Amino acid sequence: MADRVLVTGAAGMLGRDLVAHLEGRPGLEVIGVDSHDFDITQRELVLEAVTGIAPRWIIHGAAMTAVEACESDPERAFAVNAFGTRNLAEAARRVGAHMAYVSTDYVFDGKLKRPYTEWDAVGPRSVYGLSKLGGERALDPEWTIVRTAWLFGQHGPNMVRTVLRLAREADGSRRRLPFVDDQHGCPTASPDLAPVLADLALSRMPGVFHVTNQSPTTWFGLARAVVELAGLDPGLVEPISTAQLDPPLLAPRPANSVLDNLALRLSGRPLLADWHEAAARLIDLILKEET
Ligand SMILES: NC(=O)c1ccc[n+]([C@@H]2O[C@H](COP(=O)([O-])OP(=O)(O)OC[C@H]3O[C@@H](n4cnc5c(N)ncnc54)[C@H](OP(=O)(O)O)[C@@H]3O)[C@@H](O)[C@H]2O)c1
Repeated sequence: MADRVLVTGAAGMLGRDLVAHLEGRPGLEVIGVDSHDFDITQRELVLEAVTGIAPRWIIHGAAMTAVEACESDPERAFAVNAFGTRNLAEAARRVGAHMAYVSTDYVFDGKLKRPYTEWDAVGPRSVYGLSKLGGERALDPEWTIVRTAWLFGQHGPNMVRTVLRLAREADGSRRRLPFVDDQHGCPTASPDLAPVLADLALSRMPGVFHVTNQSPTTWFGLARAVVELAGLDPGLVEPISTAQLDPPLLAPRPANSVLDNLALRLSGRPLLADWHEAAARLIDLILKEET
């Protein structure tokens, strides 16, 4: 009988790429679940479902990912991101499954003047970051935590799609698109992350791993690159500071959340490529979808 891997958040941006990647693997049965299958905040439902499936691995990508919504509804954010992960961890213990959890750069406060390693102190500034850290703390030490950042991919809304849409709407007009130029991070392609996440989980690598594409930038830098890659006028985007955002964001973001992929390097694994390559591939795909 094939070994089962349970993927939560399977209909999400990362979940869809992860399931697609895992489905090609021989000897593995992939079971993707989403909120329509069971709500991870409901302990009894989680225990019943997971013991029924009896997976060898659980790759847990389900989360309340809307950072602003988390800030305005902390109860729900903690229910899904922290308590929901606790429920899955309890279920994983019952069936003896190895659990891998997808976490975020927003567990850091952003004050450090260099990239954050896996061994730097956490200090989330937002409800989203704190609730995701709550999820990290529900895991056993021998399980896997993969922190990633600024995800973009083919499925679901994300910065690359949003910038492309806004830039096309603004093209030809005198309107400029303001993007924040004082928050630094590493945009990461969901299809690039999925195989590394799968490998770390299936090989039961214990501990925290930072996994992002290379080449730190700002939201302005990302927006400008997307506009250029799409063949539009890079002058369409203009840099602003976080303080200039109108209306201001509810949830504070770390000014620096560049993740050093130190543990990945130390484990001898290759790093992901520069995000520009993946962004160019995604833009090609979006443009082809439209023709
Ligand atoms: N997006 C980023 O920039 C980013 C950055 C760093 C880390 N991450 C982490 O990476 C992971 C994947 O992110 P993503 O952007 O691919 O997520 P996403 O597209 O928002 O998908 C999240 C999935 O979780 C499911 N879900 C939410 N609440 C649930 C519940 N109570 N019970 C069961 N399922 C539930 C959602 O289902 P419904 O749609 O049906 O609610 C959705 O399919 C998350 O853990 C996130 O925290 C994301």
